[in-house]
Amino acid sequence: MTKIFISCALPYANGPCHLGHLRSTYIPADIYARYNRMAGNEVLMVCATDEHGTPIAVKADAEGKKPIEVAKRYHDMIAEDIRSCDISLDNFTRTTDELHYKISQDFFKYLYDKGLIYEETIQQLYCENCEKFLPDRYVEGICPVCGADARGDHCEVCGRALDPIELVEPRCLTCGNTPVIRDSTQYFFKLSHFQEPLEEYISTNEYLPPNVRNYAQNWLKEGLQDWIMTRDMKWGIPVPLEGAEGKVIYVWGEAFIGYISSAAQWSRKTGIPWEDYWDGHVVHFIGKDIIYHHSLFWPAMLLGHDCKLPDDIFAGEFLSLEGRKMSTSKNWVIWVADFVKDFDSDLLRYYLTINAPLNKDTDFSWDEFQRRINDELADVIGNFLHRTFTFTNKFFDGKVPEYKNPSEYDLEFEQSLKELPDKVGELIAAMKFREGLVEIIKTAKKGNKYFNDQEPWKAVKEDMEKASNCLYLSNQLCKAMAVLLKPYIPNKADAICDIINISTENTWDDAKVFLEEGHEINKAKPLFKKIEDKVIAEQKEKLYKNLEDSDSESKDKSNKKDSKESGKDKNNDKGSKDNDEGEKMDLISIDDFAKVEIRIGKIVECEKIEKSNKLLKTQIDIGDKTIQVVAGLGKRYDPEDLVGKKVPVVTNLKPAKLMGEKSEGMIMATESAAILTPDDCEIGELLM
Ligand code: MF3
Ligand code: ZN
Repeated sequence: MTKIFISCALPYANGPCHLGHLRSTYIPADIYARYNRMAGNEVLMVCATDEHGTPIAVKADAEGKKPIEVAKRYHDMIAEDIRSCDISLDNFTRTTDELHYKISQDFFKYLYDKGLIYEETIQQLYCENCEKFLPDRYVEGICPVCGADARGDHCEVCGRALDPIELVEPRCLTCGNTPVIRDSTQYFFKLSHFQEPLEEYISTNEYLPPNVRNYAQNWLKEGLQDWIMTRDMKWGIPVPLEGAEGKVIYVWGEAFIGYISSAAQWSRKTGIPWEDYWDGHVVHFIGKDIIYHHSLFWPAMLLGHDCKLPDDIFAGEFLSLEGRKMSTSKNWVIWVADFVKDFDSDLLRYYLTINAPLNKDTDFSWDEFQRRINDELADVIGNFLHRTFTFTNKFFDGKVPEYKNPSEYDLEFEQSLKELPDKVGELIAAMKFREGLVEIIKTAKKGNKYFNDQEPWKAVKEDMEKASNCLYLSNQLCKAMAVLLKPYIPNKADAICDIINISTENTWDDAKVFLEEGHEINKAKPLFKKIEDKVIAEQKEKLYKNLEDSDSESKDKSNKKDSKESGKDKNNDKGSKDNDEGEKMDLISIDDFAKVEIRIGKIVECEKIEKSNKLLKTQIDIGDKTIQVVAGLGKRYDPEDLVGKKVPVVTNLKPAKLMGEKSEGMIMATESAAILTPDDCEIGELLM
């Protein structure tokens, strides 16, 4: 048994949570935490809202409110967002909590007393009109490197950290005046002092994933610079030193301490020392934009404090939305609170996990969301559960039937479901959350195939043993899934447990324990509903409308926008150029070709798609089912001519939408839309 300390990056209390937060940080952390608890490890998972820093102060100024009021408002919203997605934090606090102040100040003082924080006079921007220094986001200007519009300490377009005095044409954010440069005394942390131990830490820590290690190593190569640890402003934690009146600790000098102060608050409540967890295995879940801070800055602060360093830093890559970069300022974003109004949060947990591994950037698209929920969650998992339960209810009086004289096939299926818990568990333990879920789906697919092959609906009349064995094993898979899905989709997992009539509190190994023969299950209820096209259409409309609104709003703030856009275009150009170069005529192997499934189908229905002069909507019988294909053949053929015609169809294409119509395959035709006609072939026949 291990003690595991899990943290989620602290969300800034200047806005609610959107899907990006969930994807990069909270969902993976929660899967990992839930799994480990079930596997018998002791977990302490903490988080807090990050409530200091200039963005919150600026927002409060703009609203004529106190920063604490703004922070409280968003703290409450974020807490609700996290709760609504069942992120099972053991403690959630705020960096404005008095315990956090105390621990942060002690930490600062400790580093200062050790000589690791020192004073230095530097030049900073000062607004003579507002009579204040302009830290970070209190100043706007032009990025000296890429020419885009930048705010204070950071250029969003080229991603560089900036010193505000480098900004071209700086303006005070509050009054618009051009600030002047003035001397000011600040405190610095000797980050450079830790160059060597950090190199050692980064290169020898076996857990660090490659993205984190590579980023950190690149920065280490440039050589570490000391970090400014203080700001001249009111909002923040006062620097606990004499002569430092009017200065607060820089938000990045205390936010990390939130991990510790949240844990310490938990200890106060429970009486259990959090330090034991820190001495165990420490994992920070973060987004990739803060790898620098977590892989270098935070470990250096900990080294300065003679503390154990985190064992793993797990950084989720970015989530885009419908193919574009998310942007809260342009309202190109989906807020968690809006999402869970319309959908079960488990659907989101499922989609954001299955869509891509965490170390890859990924995209949220409404069509893809619908497809995965309908084709995987509903059609594969939901279907298997439902047919098993309804069949058991109907033919076996709701009881798990006997298992006698299993056939080869039964034994083989039994074997694969027995192996499942360890397989999935090992993947989750290795942070391969998506892969674990894929294993569960694969096994459910296998289950559906087994069920189809055994044809229990026939067997109940002809071969009762075969039917019983099939339903016995199918129920066992349902139970295993109920347990193994818990870290991923906890509500649905509990609902499955309820139908199976077992406790919702299970250990991981419970997935290996078979239900007894005669165990009574409850009435089946459908667990996963398909999402209708119109629901998705509404969501898309809402989203695109946001975009239009924000576009028209910001039209006249052109100056600023133009430079941003042009910065982005540059990047895009580069991207498309790379792509073009990649599109050489490469030869493919026979294996590549074998990936394409081509079957002979017969067009059974065909109609024109309105508003299109060439698209036809066809229903094609491909042997075991009928699929819908939208084909660009309308210029050459009339719909009536095609009904009854045999055509070769690619049947394993990812479904797509054309003019709002689903298309599940492609009719093989030439450039001039002439169909290849296989009159002599049988329907359903596979092309070799
Ligand atoms: N609030 C910061 C962000 O969202 C993250 C802080 S993580 C912490 O980028 F470790 F510093 F707390
Ligand atoms: Zn000003």
